[in-house]
Amino acid sequence: MPRFGKARMLMYSQKLLEVNLSAKLLGLVGSPRKDGNTDVLVDEALAAFREFPREFPQEKGETEKVFLSSLQIDPCRGYFSCKHGKGLDSVCAQRDDMTGLYQKMFEADALLWATPVYMWSPTAQMKLFLDRLFPLGDYQKTRWRCALKGKPIGLIIVYAETDPLDSGVFQTRDILEVVAKSSGGSVAFVIHSTVGEKGSAREDTELLRRVRESVKTLL
Ligand SMILES: Cc1cc2nc3c(=O)[nH]c(=O)nc-3n(C[C@H](O)[C@H](O)[C@H](O)COP(=O)(O)O)c2cc1C
Repeated sequence: MPRFGKARMLMYSQKLLEVNLSAKLLGLVGSPRKDGNTDVLVDEALAAFREFPREFPQEKGETEKVFLSSLQIDPCRGYFSCKHGKGLDSVCAQRDDMTGLYQKMFEADALLWATPVYMWSPTAQMKLFLDRLFPLGDYQKTRWRCALKGKPIGLIIVYAETDPLDSGVFQTRDILEVVAKSSGGSVAFVIHSTVGEKGSAREDTELLRRVRESVKTLL
């Protein structure tokens, strides 16, 4: 047993706590609009995660926001190499920005997937991303099967129609939810809301409050 002085021991245990207690949230924005409603709500969620929890000074939340539209994510080409266990080192046989995004997702402690409803569906940017999660499906036999296992995932969906039944929000939610679950993730919360003009979600204090509260379920 190494001989540590009291002070050294304290520093050492604080260091351990620091490592254990920091958590990272990766937020994916499926809207192509910077400062749009999706972006506003993701920013709110990430800000809340950085602040929460506050019980110990060592605890900290790290966050990263990624605009899917700023990445080169090509459509799945249906090679099925993931299904046959080929390309084990890189999840997918294709080489594009999805390679780095898989890595970021595996390293994050929690994920946020956010999209507006476009034509009663997730946006095309979000759908490209979802299709590329095929290697992580619970139907796969490789080591990437359910690779998001144990990862809490928060879902945020915005739309313009005042009647949710006409908006396509429920189909969009169902798609995000089933892909998250089949990839091994556990859906921690779903927030969907009708919104107004670009960025108007910033004025919706009740919606912002719901986002901040929900983020706590990711920890
Ligand atoms: C191409 C397109 C399709 C849309 N389709 C729908 C729709 O099916 N249902 C709906 O309620 N809103 C629809 N909207 C409205 C958007 O969901 C809404 O404007 C939302 O705020 C956009 O998100 P953003 O502000 O983050 O960019 C559509 C908007 C666009 C541009």
